[in-house]
Amino acid sequence: MTEHIKIVEVGPRDGLQNEKQFVDTATKIELINRLTAAGFPNIEAASFVSPKWVPQMADGSQVMAGIQRQPGTIYSALTPNMRGLEAALAAQADEVVIFAAASEAFSQRNINCSIDESITRFEPVAAAAKNAGVRLRGSISCALGCPYQGQTPVAAVVDVAERLLRLGCDELDVADTIGVGTAAQVQQVLQAVGSVANLQTQVSGHFHDTYGQALANILAALESGVRIFHSSVAGLGGCPYAKGATGNVATEDVLYLLHGQGLHTGIDLDAIVDTGTWISQQIGRPTASRAGRALALKKA
Ligand code: HMG
Ligand code: MG
Repeated sequence: MTEHIKIVEVGPRDGLQNEKQFVDTATKIELINRLTAAGFPNIEAASFVSPKWVPQMADGSQVMAGIQRQPGTIYSALTPNMRGLEAALAAQADEVVIFAAASEAFSQRNINCSIDESITRFEPVAAAAKNAGVRLRGSISCALGCPYQGQTPVAAVVDVAERLLRLGCDELDVADTIGVGTAAQVQQVLQAVGSVANLQTQVSGHFHDTYGQALANILAALESGVRIFHSSVAGLGGCPYAKGATGNVATEDVLYLLHGQGLHTGIDLDAIVDTGTWISQQIGRPTASRAGRALALKKA
């Protein structure tokens, strides 16, 4: 049987959050509807954070209310605190994401508190999510390097992973926020995280592509046993609190790689190429996906 890889499309959240110009709600909704139709099992659809911190995500409730949901598709939302969690539950998110960092400096810049404080803040969020019966995911930023502190010790990643698991996370994202990691380092970090979590079922690779390493890192993570990856259509995005960081690895490139490896994703690459072309036009920038560009040219 062909092995299945779960792809979590994060373009509507991680991708769009970094756009300076406000992307209107209708465009966000259409993007999610197109991604749903293309077959993603899981789409990161919204972020219930402070609109002062990330104005682009201020319309999360309207976005969640406007999308056409496919039964079985998981629509996720970021929840930094109880206020975010309550908004996500009201918006009927299927999964909520608490996001911590393996670097103190990044934790301060991104969520305005220390790692310890963030875990304490997540305790009631996790408990309320469990109580409501929604999935809980924990993201570990700067797992492969930090824009403020440089190298991240592997032990710091494992420590945060353990603490997020103790809160009840169903899945953990090993996130290369600024795309600096290389393949051997990815395997080293994953091996260590594998001592506390099941790499096949509980761990995802969330790789930004700033240094062009993301596809190599995905292959390295596959070899390590990881079967869940995050990607962003057209390679949209970046992190507002990680200067210079570019978008997530492009979904089109990831699908081209995985399908070429004979792996199954259940996602229609052709439809994603069209969606990548469409959203790039909507936000007025060229696609960051090499495969997307090449495949779109072949169609033209
Ligand atoms: P704070 O300023 O310390 O907290 O922010 P606060 O409680 O004093 O709140 C400040 C203001 O925001 C208040 O409004 C609150 O009411 C409001 P004011 O009284 O001044 O008018 N507020 C909220 N509004 C709506 N929804 C909420 C909410 N919470 C407070 N949930 C806080 C702390 C965590 C809120 C803030 O730092 C924040 O929102 N940070 C989010 C930053 C962010 O979204 N970063 C990007 C996402 S993470 C990411 O991209 C990384 C990832 O992709 C993995 C990777 O690549 O590394 C996941
Ligand atoms: Mg990210």
